[in-house]
Amino acid sequence: MLSLVPTSQDLYTAAALLKKARLVAMPTETVYGLAADAFEPTAIVKIFDAKERPRFDPLIVHLPVGPPEDVLRTLVVLDDYAPRGKEAVTTLTRVFWPGPLTLVLPRSNAVPDLVTSGKPTVAVRMPAHPTTQALLKAFGGPLVAPSANRFGSISPTTADAVRAELDGRIDAVVDAGPTPLGVESTVLAVDPDGTLRLLRPGALPVEDIEAVAGPVVRQAPLSVGERPEAPGQLSRHYAPGTPLTLVDDLTKPLVGAPPCVGLLRVLGPVEEAQAAYEAQGHTVVIARSLSASTLTEAAQRLFAVLRELDESTAEALIAERCPSHVGLGHAIADRLERAAR
Ligand code: TXA
Ligand code: MG
Repeated sequence: MLSLVPTSQDLYTAAALLKKARLVAMPTETVYGLAADAFEPTAIVKIFDAKERPRFDPLIVHLPVGPPEDVLRTLVVLDDYAPRGKEAVTTLTRVFWPGPLTLVLPRSNAVPDLVTSGKPTVAVRMPAHPTTQALLKAFGGPLVAPSANRFGSISPTTADAVRAELDGRIDAVVDAGPTPLGVESTVLAVDPDGTLRLLRPGALPVEDIEAVAGPVVRQAPLSVGERPEAPGQLSRHYAPGTPLTLVDDLTKPLVGAPPCVGLLRVLGPVEEAQAAYEAQGHTVVIARSLSASTLTEAAQRLFAVLRELDESTAEALIAERCPSHVGLGHAIADRLERAAR
């Protein structure tokens, strides 16, 4: 695949590929996305093929910066919304766009069925990353973009991770360095009566949403087999190839762990845990802490470190559960639970 950088010349090349119904991976503030023309079904089909993604999993439409009413006009129809529902959409878009909040709203007929998997709703977000916005501007319209990984695998936060996932399957990647937030956008359904339902915890903490828009209904994760409203809700997703087990205390070696292990701690040092495993005769081939003290840094590093652990020679990965479910802890805990088996 072609490697591009965020210069105007390369973004022009990327936009030209997208106009020819080709696929281009692009950075966003959350993770790298695999972009295609949101109004071109022949391009969108290629996304499902490249990712081996089931057709029942709908895509997020990425919008250029602009007044929300203008950029949403052709995509979303709020005619049946009560004043409270319309007000919620106005407040959320005014406060959090551009940024890592995806809203699930009733679709217009202009949105291809492939984008929504035939659902009556469409997921929309206005990304904050300057490169995403520069590409949207060069392209001149909305782009659909799922995370640029094969279905069920770890989301990419670097261009190298995109290459590892999709080399030979897509046309180009725009490399703007590691993505600043590191976990995907928060996906929120806004119902006609103004009810807010969290479909996927993400980079925008749900507490921040509640502070401006009132209570959010949280939904429990579904098990595989149940048909989810958002397949990001599937209990196994974001998963490394090496089996990963979650524990409450990493300094207590897991009974039955194989000889070669990899260890992961979300916050704080990992040396004591490593020593405990070594004292039991294990070889710790890799031990990583996501951050000494901040969930922001932990989220930013999560997927890259999971990838590094997966690529090591460890036969099993053992990770300590995220100690916090507040703020970004919610998304980190969620991704770790789904990575585990
Ligand atoms: O941060 C992000 O959101 C990244 C970057 C690239 O923007 N994109 C991303 O896309 O994570 P993807 O396809 O990996 O996840 C989209 C999630 C899925 O869980 C999907 O099921 C849900 O959004 N979704 C999309 N349309 C929906 C709809 N109409 N109703 C419910 N869920 C929907
Ligand atoms: Mg994804």
